[in-house]
Amino acid sequence: MIMRMKIVAGNWKMNTTVPEGVELAKNVLAKVSEKPSDVKLILGVPFTHLAGVAEAISGSGIGLAAQNCADKESGAYTGEVSAAMLKSVGCGYVILGHSERRQYYGETDERLVAKIALAMKEGLAPIFCVGETLEQREAGNHFSVVESQIRNVLFTLTPEQAASVIVAYEPVWAIGTGKTATAGQAQEMHAHIRKVLAGRFGDVAETMPVLYGGSCKPSNAKELFACADIDGGLIGGASLNADDFLAIAKSF
Ligand code: PGA
Repeated sequence: MIMRMKIVAGNWKMNTTVPEGVELAKNVLAKVSEKPSDVKLILGVPFTHLAGVAEAISGSGIGLAAQNCADKESGAYTGEVSAAMLKSVGCGYVILGHSERRQYYGETDERLVAKIALAMKEGLAPIFCVGETLEQREAGNHFSVVESQIRNVLFTLTPEQAASVIVAYEPVWAIGTGKTATAGQAQEMHAHIRKVLAGRFGDVAETMPVLYGGSCKPSNAKELFACADIDGGLIGGASLNADDFLAIAKSF
């Protein structure tokens, strides 16, 4: 049996000031020994927080992620932050394709193809998000929607590149709503995702972590993480509290 990495990644979104964020990272660090040693923690923080959080968690084994990167390498792109900049500040990961970016900031598959290529070039591991809306699920299109999100972006990678990708399944209707997918709904989609990945990447798909996200919290993490194809979580709201975040990491 292939052992996939177990991962609990926090997505702080646009929350906390820099001092508050550094404090939160220190609180996570102070409790990091409570989690099982085979669970990898990652903190997905705002751009402004990266340097301070990188310093706070330095040498701890906790991973650092940005929540986006530019679709261009460098140059006259006011307000953008490049993959190389993220690498230089100490990021190992970058969240790409989050539904909030797709929904509010016009993130397209085409841009994501460029972003993921640049992330790869810098050696950043993408945390690539997919997920359907409630409307799409109710219409019975959830499997095909998620499959096309994967095909349109991840299928541009080689199997060697795909080996460093972390996929996060985040049903849009479960994000920040308190409404979690049932373990059955999540497992069913995770198995589908792995099948789609296997169709393109073969055995590599067995090693790619697929995380669940969407109102994942200490009270439901255990049931979700017990599923065969759920390798951890991408945690929004509950990652803003160190105790809750660690409790989730202890749920395997
Ligand atoms: P949530 O967010 O845990 O607050 O639902 C998850 C996410 O959007 O990554």
